Amino acid sequence: MTTIPAVLPDFTLGEPSIDHDHRIIRDLILALRDAVADGDTEAQGELGEALVRHIKTHFMVEELLMRLYKYPDAEAHVAEHQVVLDRLRRVTTDLRSGDAPASLRDLDALLAWRTAHIGQADAAYRDYLRNTGALRHLE
Ligand SMILES: [Fe+2]
Ligand SMILES: [Fe+2]
Repeated sequence: MTTIPAVLPDFTLGEPSIDHDHRIIRDLILALRDAVADGDTEAQGELGEALVRHIKTHFMVEELLMRLYKYPDAEAHVAEHQVVLDRLRRVTTDLRSGDAPASLRDLDALLAWRTAHIGQADAAYRDYLRNTGALRHLE
């Protein structure tokens, strides 16, 4: 059961490798939201683990690129990632305790964070990497 509109306003950065990761994160959040709304605890466990793993890997890649190409605002960007990792821990705790309303609120906050972060912080580092020519190595 889809509980929020399937078509969400979304940003793409025009860089396939980054956009692919961002799309998977969105789709995992939406699938997890559905699992919570349906009370499917097995799917919640699997999707929750996949979401944490995928987000951590994505952050590691972004942070590595920023370090490799000496992105000047890396510290602030990494701090934003830390905030979402804290939020993810809260999602995991709420899922384990079976608190569906809190889980849905956390997941909605995660979706809103994702959209804002991509549109601002990720767009800024994408511009920097483009200007340095670093993104050509990823194609
Ligand atoms: Fe990102
Ligand atoms: Fe990021």
